[in-house]
Amino acid sequence: MKYYCYIIFLAGLLISCDQKPSSLETSTEKLADSSFDNHSYSNLSAIHTTHLDLELEVNFENKTIYGVARHTMKNNNADTAIFDINGLLIQKVTLGTKSNEKETDFVIGNMDKDSILGQPLLVRTDSSTEQINIYYQTTEYSNALDWLDSNLTSSKTKPFLYTQGQAILTRTWIPIQDSPSNRITYSAKVTVPKDLMAVMSAKNTKNKSVDGHYFFEMKKPIPSYLIALAVGDLSYQSLGPNTGFYCEPELAKACLYEFQDLPKMMQAAEKIYGKYQWDQYDLLVLPYSFPFGGMENPMLTFVNPTIITGDRSLTSVVAHELAHSWSGNLVTNRTWNDFWLNEGFTVYFEQRIMEELYGKDVSDILAAVEFYELQDELKTIANSKYPEDSRLFLDLKNRNPDDGMTDIAYVKGAFFLKTLEQKVGRKKFDVFIQSYFEKHAFKTINSDEFIRYLDKNLLSNEEVKFNHLDWIYKEGLPKNCIQIQSNRLDNMKILANDFSQGKAIFKTKIRYEKIRVKGKNRRKKIIEHLKREDHIVQEWQTFIRALPKSISKEQLKIIDINLGFKKCGNSEIMTEWFTKALENNYTEINGEIERFLKKVGRRKYLVPIYKAMNKVNPQLANQIFENSKNQYHAVSRNSIEELLKEVN
Ligand code: BES
Ligand code: ZN
Repeated sequence: MKYYCYIIFLAGLLISCDQKPSSLETSTEKLADSSFDNHSYSNLSAIHTTHLDLELEVNFENKTIYGVARHTMKNNNADTAIFDINGLLIQKVTLGTKSNEKETDFVIGNMDKDSILGQPLLVRTDSSTEQINIYYQTTEYSNALDWLDSNLTSSKTKPFLYTQGQAILTRTWIPIQDSPSNRITYSAKVTVPKDLMAVMSAKNTKNKSVDGHYFFEMKKPIPSYLIALAVGDLSYQSLGPNTGFYCEPELAKACLYEFQDLPKMMQAAEKIYGKYQWDQYDLLVLPYSFPFGGMENPMLTFVNPTIITGDRSLTSVVAHELAHSWSGNLVTNRTWNDFWLNEGFTVYFEQRIMEELYGKDVSDILAAVEFYELQDELKTIANSKYPEDSRLFLDLKNRNPDDGMTDIAYVKGAFFLKTLEQKVGRKKFDVFIQSYFEKHAFKTINSDEFIRYLDKNLLSNEEVKFNHLDWIYKEGLPKNCIQIQSNRLDNMKILANDFSQGKAIFKTKIRYEKIRVKGKNRRKKIIEHLKREDHIVQEWQTFIRALPKSISKEQLKIIDINLGFKKCGNSEIMTEWFTKALENNYTEINGEIERFLKKVGRRKYLVPIYKAMNKVNPQLANQIFENSKNQYHAVSRNSIEELLKEVN
């Protein structure tokens, strides 16, 4: 039926390229809806890519990539191949191998109503077509791309470019069948200015080339959202047998300290769920505008420089992205409705790695903080336009798949697995999860299939009764959810409470300790004063969150003077503090807030700060955004633009 639709669709419309017949609009909608993946136009069952060979020229002068995408296809007798594009200019399409290409007709359908999916690119094929070559260039609407002028990099002397593909932005820099359900291998020839280095989510060289030419190969099949490229003034530093990092030379020393434990993380991960399948695992430290904390591009995780804090306090982000090498990259959500299978498993696995390295105390702290955030999210979702978004399995039809990036997928997903682990015992659970990864390696999976696998391999064999269907298909949090308790966090709540009751928690205390020096008893004076260094980031987050919703400026000032959060360099604490200050009109630190918003582009930080500022001082929020928006990645820029529209 679907195939039949395409034929009718094409019959009247195969005209030469850039004209857009009006009748395309309705047909386009039909195409998107008729597929099981609501977020791709591609006709995968009729014809799909197995290998992609890219030829890319990266031009920093006009901020354009000129490319040829050569698709090797598995063709089930299709007369049309449909690709996804968004913000691309298509020059021509040919069929056949490189020395033997023939131009073919193509049509570009209209953009969907909300401009989420982009446009279908329909290419005429015949039953013998195995090679489709698309000649194209990117545009200013290529939202995956972040072109940074040199002043926004660490060196301040060389420009930078990186891509962000997940969830459906790969189609904005490569014409591709952009559905996570299809895995492909890829190779790429990339040309960049001679003084810059190119790296990809593939096997990378460790040194700059002399002529600006780079060749990449990803030999294991991956979903399209994991194709990634970065170009900048990069150097490489090894950390262990198969781990290391790329960064701008200025950051190398700080990174070397921050990422010291990466080889141990790898050992811990392999101990828990078996051999790492991607040979090399490197990090790439991006400029501050990167909209995420980390992105699990295979062989080369992209990370935000805000995780370099000088005290290794945010390295759980690295554990998270490493965990994706199993959950997500090895076993992939088939559609974005199954996103929890990627992120829920990854948060669970991240905490297991952290437990292995730093103890249960630390992993419980991480879990407890996340649980607090989950409860907040549950409230927000319950009062929103889409209360059904608190289900693990989502329905994101006609919506942006990014809407699924909430604590439901991440934290409810992880707590589902933690609760299940508690029920069956860690030993059995680990055997089950490891075999799940092995069985589905380099495949995709949806929620239904996972349930069947779980039923067969863990629950019915053991005759365990478990409410997994409630967890996956019902709103809210089931009552049997595991409880995580942390004494260290509870103490911070007490501290915040003491402070708000007027207790002088910052008062200097002097006490004397007996010590022996050269065989004689002496008294040593010890001055105790509550300092920021006394506690880790999650403890301070808990402290700030436990302060009363409405708190006086005088009290905020006391905290400000004693703990210096505003300049502490830890963006998690700073975000929490800035939001609290804004909500309570503590305007003395507006300067610091503005500096932060102009420097950091991670969406997780920008959103709460802009939200709070937009409530108390929309004019300032809009003014800062106007001055900074050009240096944010489109992902963050669009989210902030959206939230600033909200009238208070
Ligand atoms: N894959 C995600 C980032 C992502 C998700 C990008 C959906 C686009 C669409 C990545 O692994 C992630 O979860 N990053 C988190 C890190 C955190 C949970 C440790 C982030 O950036 O906040
Ligand atoms: Zn993740």
